[in-house]
Amino acid sequence: MAISIKPLTPHFGAELTGVDISNHITNIQFGEIREAFDEYSVLVLPDQPLTDEQQIIFSQRFGILESTRALNPGSGTPFARQSNLDIKTGETIPLSDRRMFYQKANMLWHSDSTFKSVPSLCSVLSAREIPPVGGATEFASTRVLYGRLSENEQNKFADLVIEHDFVYSRGIVGFTLSEDEAAKFPAAHHDLVRKNKNNGRRSLMIGAHAKTVVGWSKDQGRTFLENLVLRATAPNLIYRHEWRENDVVIWDNQAILHRATPYDTTNHRRLMQRTTISSSMPTN
Ligand code: OGA
Ligand code: MN
Repeated sequence: MAISIKPLTPHFGAELTGVDISNHITNIQFGEIREAFDEYSVLVLPDQPLTDEQQIIFSQRFGILESTRALNPGSGTPFARQSNLDIKTGETIPLSDRRMFYQKANMLWHSDSTFKSVPSLCSVLSAREIPPVGGATEFASTRVLYGRLSENEQNKFADLVIEHDFVYSRGIVGFTLSEDEAAKFPAAHHDLVRKNKNNGRRSLMIGAHAKTVVGWSKDQGRTFLENLVLRATAPNLIYRHEWRENDVVIWDNQAILHRATPYDTTNHRRLMQRTTISSSMPTN
C-alpha cells in the first residue's frame, strides 16, 4: 500500500501515514519517504512507537548518524536526549540544574549541528513521553524565505559566508562553557545559501549558531542575521507541532529552523529521543 501524504501548511510540512517504520521498510517505501522529505522538509509520522534500536535502524536509511558530543546527556551515543528526566534515575531534574539550563538554548530558532564543519542533513525526533500541556515544537522554512527574497537579495546572498559557533549560541541564554568544553566546539564557516543536491532547491543556513557574516562588522552581521530569522519565522509561515505520544518527526536541517517551547518541567515529564543524520560532506 502506498504511503499517504497530507500537507500540513500551504508552505511546507506533511503528515505521512500507511507505513510502519519500526520494521524494516522496503526500498520503495523509503524512496517515497525520502522524496516527501525533499519536497516537504518536515514529515510527521503519527503512531510510531520506537525502541532506540528501531530508531537507529530507520534513521540510518538517510545516511550516517552523528555521534552526540559532550554536554548533552546522550553524549557518546547516537542520541541527543531532549528531556527533563535524569538519564540514570528517571526522576525530573530540578530547574536550577545546569542540564536544564543547557536545554534553554533549544528555545532559540536554530537548525541542528550547523556549528559543525560537516553539518547535518536531518534529524529524527521520537516522542517517548510528553507533558499533558506545553512542549510543542515550532518549525519554519528558510527555503520558503529564499523563495520570497528579491532577485537583488538572492544575488547578494550568493557570495556570503557565515560563521557558526556553538559557544556563541549557548552564550545567548547565559550558558557558559569551560575552556576545555569550548575547545571541543571550534567555529565553522558555511555559505549562507545551501542547495539541496536532490532537487536544487535553495535555502539559507541561519539560526542561533549563526554568529557573524565573514568580513562584516559584528553589528552589521547581527542585524542582518537576526532580520533573516525574523522574516523566516513570521507567524503566518510557521508550523507548530503539538506532540502526541509516539509521534516521529523528521526535519531537513538544510532548510528548516525549529525551536522548543516551554512546559512545566517540575511537574510534568518529557522524553524525546533525537537521532541526527550527517550530510557527510563539508559545505565549503
Ligand atoms: C531538537 C530540538 C526541540 C524540542 O531535538 O533538536 O531542538 O521541542 N528539540 O524538543
Ligand atoms: Mn534542535
